[in-house]
Amino acid sequence: MKIISVTLLIAAVSLTGLSAAQINGKLFQPRPKLKPTQPMPRPLPGGGPQFGDALPGLGATQLASFSAGRTEFEAIETPAGGLGPIFNGKSCVECHSAGATGGASTITVTRFGRLVDGKFDPLDHLGGSLLQRFAIDPQALERVPVQANVVAQRLATPLFGAGLIEAIPDADILLAAQRPQPDGIHGRAAQVDDVASGKSRVGRFGWKAQQATLLSFAGDAYLNEMGVTSRLFPTENAPNGNQALLAKFDLIPGIEDAVDPATGTSDIDHAADFMRLLAPPPPLRQSVSAAAGGRLFQQMQCAACHTPTLFTGANPLTALAHQPVNLFSDLLLHNMGALGDRIAQGTASGAEMRTAPLWGLRARKTFLHDGRAKTVAEAVRAHDGEGAASRTRFNALRAAEQQQVLDFLASI
Ligand code: HEC
Ligand code: HEC
Repeated sequence: MKIISVTLLIAAVSLTGLSAAQINGKLFQPRPKLKPTQPMPRPLPGGGPQFGDALPGLGATQLASFSAGRTEFEAIETPAGGLGPIFNGKSCVECHSAGATGGASTITVTRFGRLVDGKFDPLDHLGGSLLQRFAIDPQALERVPVQANVVAQRLATPLFGAGLIEAIPDADILLAAQRPQPDGIHGRAAQVDDVASGKSRVGRFGWKAQQATLLSFAGDAYLNEMGVTSRLFPTENAPNGNQALLAKFDLIPGIEDAVDPATGTSDIDHAADFMRLLAPPPPLRQSVSAAAGGRLFQQMQCAACHTPTLFTGANPLTALAHQPVNLFSDLLLHNMGALGDRIAQGTASGAEMRTAPLWGLRARKTFLHDGRAKTVAEAVRAHDGEGAASRTRFNALRAAEQQQVLDFLASI
């Protein structure tokens, strides 16, 4: 029985994979084709949701949560409201704005650690592995400690369709990890402790698939990017681990993101609501070139990791229940060889990275975990490790065929 259901799932996944292009083409109104640097299209009358819109089919209460959540996501924190003592940004939108509120950006944050005999030490006691670049007082400023011998940048990722990604059942991601793959590709699910639910879950958010839920990521971001403590992350970061400096500059003792006794919720919940209800990136109608590029994408085995479609499971929210998610990722960790950032995090080793979802790429200007790639083609050429074989196939394509692949990637 188990074997049969596995086979069926594989069949379903590969079928939808092959037809994702057509599905995209039929579900959405024709829109003009864009170059990645052009502004996003304005919503067409009768068209589907655009970048930054809410999921389709939400009721009035959910739309109200979406707007209230967006207000929180855009709110600028101040020291009096809990910002700092050390931080990387003053609002979520500061780093998540490309295309619309909730997008990526070209902003990176710094991670550091110490690698000795192949073992990674995040230098927790020195404020690692995440550097906070700013402080409410110059005395509290963090620096990359001299002990660090690994320093890596991490690019802000987009949140469009994040609720759909959250709603993909753990079991489906685990099953995908068992699917036989070509080219020695072997993805691994990131099993993480989810702070919000207190459960062991399959991680799916972040470059290392280090978080499983949006509420946990929101709490993590409020603390680690803005220095705002919450019920989920109550412990303030000490500047480079220095408790005396923390005591001196932590203006608000205790939890800063106060829970409203009437609702039991706080800013982290509102930010999570906003991200959960954000519509996925709107696919464009595919040109002949893009459709040809989609076939090449399959032939080069890009889809062995960049799975075109996964599905959400049962969900209390109808808009998130049993939906296709055309994210172009298996959400698994892969050994990417020299492309890895050498930072071990959660269950991911230094070389392991989460397959980056490829939907909505056209809203962005920089690519890969550290933003080193200024074009999509450069990002493909940097694939290594398990991705080396498909990179070699991409490099071997004629220039016109490479353009078809890029046209495809700009349409999803
Ligand atoms: C200083 C810039 C910065 C700020 C401010 C910031 N983020 Fe991020 N965000 C990032 C970076 C960088 C990543 C990738 C992190 C990683 O994987 O290490 C990220 C990733 C995420 C992700 C994971 C998305 C995915 O699919 O990978 C979520 C969710 C998120 N941020 C939510 C938030 C929220 C909510 C806030 C406000 C509380 C926020 N961020 C503030 C830079 C920022
Ligand atoms: C072995 C799995 C694997 C295969 C095969 C693979 N990729 Fe990737 N891809 C990844 C991972 C993992 C990342 C994130 C890497 C990083 O930034 O460290 C990524 C990132 C990308 C990015 C950048 C996305 C972003 O958010 O910046 C693009 C574009 C991309 N892949 C396209 C392709 C194309 C086209 C192919 C086929 C020629 C391909 N990939 C094959 C795993 C794979």
